[in-house]
Amino acid sequence: MSFPTHRYRRLRLTESLREMVRETSLEPSDFIAPLFVVPGEGVRQPVPSMPGVDRTSPELAAKDAKALFSLGVKSVILFGIPDGKDARGTSSADPGGPVCRAVRAIKSESPGTVVMTDVCLCEYTDHGHCGVLKGETVDNDPTLEILAAEALAHAKAGADVVAPSDMMDGRVAAIRTALDRDGFTSVPILAYSAKYASGFYGPFREAAESTPSFGDRRAYQMDPANVREAVKEVLSDIEEGADLVMVKPAMAYLDVVRAVREATHVPLAAYNVSGEYAMVKAAERNGWIDGKRVTLEILTSIRRAGADLILTYHAKEASEWLA
Ligand code: PBG
Repeated sequence: MSFPTHRYRRLRLTESLREMVRETSLEPSDFIAPLFVVPGEGVRQPVPSMPGVDRTSPELAAKDAKALFSLGVKSVILFGIPDGKDARGTSSADPGGPVCRAVRAIKSESPGTVVMTDVCLCEYTDHGHCGVLKGETVDNDPTLEILAAEALAHAKAGADVVAPSDMMDGRVAAIRTALDRDGFTSVPILAYSAKYASGFYGPFREAAESTPSFGDRRAYQMDPANVREAVKEVLSDIEEGADLVMVKPAMAYLDVVRAVREATHVPLAAYNVSGEYAMVKAAERNGWIDGKRVTLEILTSIRRAGADLILTYHAKEASEWLA
């Protein structure tokens, strides 16, 4: 039976009715705020291609994390820009590096904040690739122990969750083994399981100074054309011990978010990446879109596709809008 018995507009008539039948919720506690940390003290540098995003020294990251927490954003993920880089990304496991310092600062300033750390080598290698090189290719197996050492250093500094984003095969198992061996059996792993070789990471690479000096990441990150492969990646990461999994980027990959949601029962995160953020900000600045409305629509769509958590540079403003 259809019209005129059924009139869909009946349930759209008022905001209260619409709210009552709304299928998807959006809360500040759904957000994970990415923070870029640099060495030093008293440093706050805006990222030109990402209006509203700064690179800060550890103690200012702690202030930002505290402010986010009071807005209801319970979690942050840290990316470090170190002083020194070498071929093996040695500074990634430095307990005195910006990430470990920021972990300690945030845990003391805002103990309730869930501090996640990005585990990858691209910010720490002088060539900008996510692992060690053998000729011009990234050598998978020797990279695993360096990643494991980095994750362990973060856990020792007090990280609540470690999040490998390198896309080496076997890294979740290698990190789990290293953490457990040192007694960090309670530190969960958020795996960037389905991470695509994407053009949407441009502004991030500017912020993190992690652009590869030659070539690209297509030999380790996923081909944008694939979705079955994403499910395979996710399932094997879970088997290796991932507690949470991620799809990245988000907006152009909502079908992947949906496929992963349907294939698994672990918490699912999606990364609303730097290029997605920059596009919204640029169009808003040109007066071409209503930034607030479009942002909330994008974030809702990521939740609707099946993500529990959203890593997003919009975390602060969106939480203010939702308050
Ligand atoms: C790698 C990493 C990247 C991002 C998160 N972790 C960049 C890359 O793979 O080149 C991108 C995030 C974004 O674009 O917002 N450590």
